Amino acid sequence: MNPVNSARTVNVGICGLGTVASGTVNILTRNKKLIDARSGCNVSIVQIGARRDNPKVDTSGYSVTRDIFDVVNNPAVDIVVELIGGTTVAKDLVLTAIANGKHIVTANKALIAHHGDEIFAAAKAKGVTVAFEAAVAGGIPIIKSIREGLAANNIEWLAGIINGTTNFILTEMRDKGRAFEDVLKEAQELGYAEADPTFDVEGIDAAHKLVILASLAFGIPLDVKKVFTEGITKISTEDVNYAEELGYRIKHLGIARRSAGGIELHVNPTLIPEKRLIANVDGVMNAVLVKGDAVGPTLYYGAGAGAEPTGSSVVGDIVDVARTLLADPAHRVPYLGFQDEFVTEQKHLPMDEIETAYYLRMSALDKPGVLSKVATILSDSGISIEAMIQKEAKEGESTVPLILLTNRVQEKKMIAAISKIESLDSISAPVVRIRVESLK
Ligand code: HSE
Repeated sequence: MNPVNSARTVNVGICGLGTVASGTVNILTRNKKLIDARSGCNVSIVQIGARRDNPKVDTSGYSVTRDIFDVVNNPAVDIVVELIGGTTVAKDLVLTAIANGKHIVTANKALIAHHGDEIFAAAKAKGVTVAFEAAVAGGIPIIKSIREGLAANNIEWLAGIINGTTNFILTEMRDKGRAFEDVLKEAQELGYAEADPTFDVEGIDAAHKLVILASLAFGIPLDVKKVFTEGITKISTEDVNYAEELGYRIKHLGIARRSAGGIELHVNPTLIPEKRLIANVDGVMNAVLVKGDAVGPTLYYGAGAGAEPTGSSVVGDIVDVARTLLADPAHRVPYLGFQDEFVTEQKHLPMDEIETAYYLRMSALDKPGVLSKVATILSDSGISIEAMIQKEAKEGESTVPLILLTNRVQEKKMIAAISKIESLDSISAPVVRIRVESLK
């Protein structure tokens, strides 16, 4: 029996023709039979709106318009796929589409992170779906995993490598000693990087994704301002190498954790034990560790950027929406995985109250007593030293690097102790401080 209800055509309109759109169109074209069989409908691209062509996709069989608003105003379109990026025109486009009764599939993390609550409210009023699997971790179905697969769990924490570009850069720096700028250029050429790559290297893109994951995990409104954000531009090869010597890797992590004090949200370079699976996630690959009270730790891994991996998530969402339309057009999955009345503000834990272990690197004058002064300051502050490296001074140099790993301590205590250490005459440069997580 043919499983496809050929009487039910679901018409897709695609806005944008960049990297992700090229992957989406290519998958929808190549796997059309499979997608129809999985959705039970005839899923057709009826219009593509793009200011310019993309040599990586053959659009000759499709109707192409140069005005993306033609797509959202096209009465034949059931699902608008927003792949133009940004938060201004994209927001307008999505709200117009919703007002016209279209369902939305988007890969736009900035749009959801900044305007998700407003978009969901408009969509709810119209009874349409907004699906955004491709917005976080490219091809990994992490939204569906948290929203559906882990729905039974109180999520305790999640930690993710959620930006492919920074992971690619850190991996190449570590493995090949390549220069930062050179690797970033390659990431741009490969289509991994954002239009403005500072979004990647300064952690803004990861912050957008983290806030979406945290909202799904904890049922909190989307508020990107609550995410403390630190990029990878200050990470030096020296620190990468000392971390290795101590049995750790430096990864750019997004962390969301709920503890008695509140919910902490931060994106920053982090030392993690090299024996953790996630420490071995390299290149453009992403991974998200989610700890639920019932399931324990779970790990999701896959390509975090690129045309077809991200297109895979977009097309997965199209199939989901198409199935819903066929089964029960009035049904919609709650946007953030909690029924709307249960999405509520919860206490936020400010950064100076979070607790982590620390990697500290200091430049100490090569003379007696320095180490004991540093150790005294730390112990007077209730901070214990877990591991240490001290190298001999290089020929002709008067300072030696002193590297310490500490126990877990409240951030404000550590900052106060560092300020005392930096005031010692025998410490010649600002102390490098990187957070350490055991991820157990
Ligand atoms: N610039 C993003 C990244 C693309 O590198 O992960 C996927 O969101």
